[in-house]
Amino acid sequence: MNDVEGTIARIAAADDLPALDVVRVEALGKSGWVTGLLKTLGGMTPEERQLRGPEFQRVRARLTDAIAQRREQLEAAELERKLATERIDLSLPAPEHSRGTVHPISQVMEELAEIFADLGFAVAEGPEIESDWYNFTALNFPPGHPARAMHDTFYLQRTDADGLPYVLRTHTSPVQIRAMQERGAPLRVIAPGRVYRSDSDATHTPMFHQIEGLVIDRAIHLGHLKWTLETFLKAFFERDDIAIRLRPSYFPFTEPSAEVDVGWSLEKGRRVVGGQQGWMEVLGSGMVHPKVIAAAGLDPDQWQGFAFGTGVDRLAMLKYGMDDLRAFFDGDIRWLKHYGFSALAVPTLSMGVGA
Ligand code: PHE
Repeated sequence: MNDVEGTIARIAAADDLPALDVVRVEALGKSGWVTGLLKTLGGMTPEERQLRGPEFQRVRARLTDAIAQRREQLEAAELERKLATERIDLSLPAPEHSRGTVHPISQVMEELAEIFADLGFAVAEGPEIESDWYNFTALNFPPGHPARAMHDTFYLQRTDADGLPYVLRTHTSPVQIRAMQERGAPLRVIAPGRVYRSDSDATHTPMFHQIEGLVIDRAIHLGHLKWTLETFLKAFFERDDIAIRLRPSYFPFTEPSAEVDVGWSLEKGRRVVGGQQGWMEVLGSGMVHPKVIAAAGLDPDQWQGFAFGTGVDRLAMLKYGMDDLRAFFDGDIRWLKHYGFSALAVPTLSMGVGA
């Protein structure tokens, strides 16, 4: 028992973890002296054991605590030492060629931003987790509206102040509302970003990208919409023989609504955009519904506008000749090397946006 204070002193004096362990084994190990003491309890009379038992346990507890405390100090000191002495050499030469590439989706978004910036459009953004009101109601899909069912929506568990679940936005159109609220009118914005629908096959992934366009001004009409889309498609596909066709359609937030087809032709056995051998749908569009303008807080008697929305992934596939959408999101390094763009080739109109 005389060894208790001595052991405490040796614990405090141990200056590394192995030294501390030697002291621990001598006292608390299988044949340590404290363990020895505890073993003698078996041979004692019950009275003696009642007296000695707690006393031995206190010794063991005190030493165990002291050891744990010292271990913590030594470990902290060791960490300090490592932090103070270990260095990472950041001065290695950079590789001769940059290895990363710009993903075709990022590339196309930059091309679109460049084209629309030239037409006076700013870039607007909104959240990917959206309230029911922004994603649907303000866009003239009231609760229970049949068009809601067409969106294969992902619902979240959290509900908003109206008791409705938040959603992963199913389109970029809620940014129309946010942009009108935040910026007022007149307004010219595009809104590129991720959108989500519960759908998956070779041409659909649960997450994909859209770009929205919105113009709000006085006396805006369908002619402005058609000219804007034609101008944009010519600049994007870098061809003058782009033909478009507006087909009557329906979206709750535009009236009238039109789906836009672009003409294609066969070149070396491949369908390319340009010419008029056939038509494919590339955009949804229309004149912004007065209810939508009012929902965003503007007076629909003063302000009109047009809106359009299209799939960025789809535009990238058409322009750069990729045919499986899923490959966009696999992160396969060979695909990225092949289809990626140089980080240094910034799209500009004067150089041709196509890199
Ligand atoms: N939001 C529509 C969609 O996802 C596209 C669209 C945008 C249509 C703007 C008209 C106007 O299908």
